[in-house]
Amino acid sequence: MKILLTGGAGYIGSHTAVELLNKGYEIVIADNFSNSDPKVLDRIKQITNKTFVHYEVDVSDYNAFEKVFIKEKIDTVIHFAGYKAVGESVKLPMMYYENNLMATITLINLMNKYGVENCIFSSSAAVYDSSVARLLTEETPLSCTNTYGYTKLMSEQIFKDAARANPRLSIVLLRYFNPIGSHESGMIGDNPNGIPNNLLPFITRVAIGKLERLSVFGNDYDTRDGTGVRDYIHVVDLALGHIAAIDYCKEHKGAIAINLGTGKGYSVLEIVHAFEKASGRKIPYVFTARREGDVDEYYASTTLAKQVLGWEAKFGIEQMCASAWNWQKQNPDGY
Ligand code: UFG
Repeated sequence: MKILLTGGAGYIGSHTAVELLNKGYEIVIADNFSNSDPKVLDRIKQITNKTFVHYEVDVSDYNAFEKVFIKEKIDTVIHFAGYKAVGESVKLPMMYYENNLMATITLINLMNKYGVENCIFSSSAAVYDSSVARLLTEETPLSCTNTYGYTKLMSEQIFKDAARANPRLSIVLLRYFNPIGSHESGMIGDNPNGIPNNLLPFITRVAIGKLERLSVFGNDYDTRDGTGVRDYIHVVDLALGHIAAIDYCKEHKGAIAINLGTGKGYSVLEIVHAFEKASGRKIPYVFTARREGDVDEYYASTTLAKQVLGWEAKFGIEQMCASAWNWQKQNPDGY
């Protein structure tokens, strides 16, 4: 069975590629390397000792992307490709809408034209109105605080409408919570350009000495220690969630949204301390003002994922931090 991964050279895409190859799937990667490194492809091959085809292509470019569908008989698409920086999305909304929505629309048009029926989409907990509840179920009201989140919510709607119009489609919208960590080999990992926006890559760069100290955004939240609480999930668990979704697609039509999280929240300070323990490095930090748009606390309801995918996260926070450190230590300058 051949699986097409758009954005397959990215952080989550590359980890999913490894798990798919290990399970014997044939994969095709389509990526324009706008926010990823072509070296990732060789790393995936080294880890798995398997090979695969890749296309350097912008998935929002219909004519260029169509060549992939002409050449490859695709069974299922996993659609990771998209811009993902929350702050940047607020500054450059048109760039985010144009890129992320055109990619989704182009993909669905090509799936319909070439009879590809199954698709798994990288959505986000950013689609939830996280001010209304801490435990977010798939029934929690939807609303976004930034353009990135809206591109995910609008893409979800586009997929739902496509599935309503074409009853042969099978769509799984996976709402990721906070993916962290890396493959146990330390050969692939989260490698943001410039100064990281997300907590874990910032911490690993402090630990390796590239950044001086962490700014903890706010210590007056309504949480157990005053710092923000999130549901961090090991990227390998997340990758395995996609494989469970491939099986689900084979037996169900229509569109469904499913959370991928652990159901457990950790505060920023708990993460700092878990990372210090796993790495043996001290992480200097200062408290600074809250970051606009952040909320106190939220975590995933994991019931639906267990019920319909038979999937649940297995790795704990120690393994998440240790593997994030292993990646950074082995790749102090990234790829
Ligand atoms: N934080 C800091 N200092 C930093 C970075 C983050 O204190 O330098 C804190 C944040 O305030 C928050 C927590 O660490 O409390 C996690 O922040 P991240 O930026 O790592 O993650 P977010 O929860 O803000 O956002 C993540 C993804 C988004 C996605 C969102 C959905 O990065 O893509 O979850 O819930 F939209």
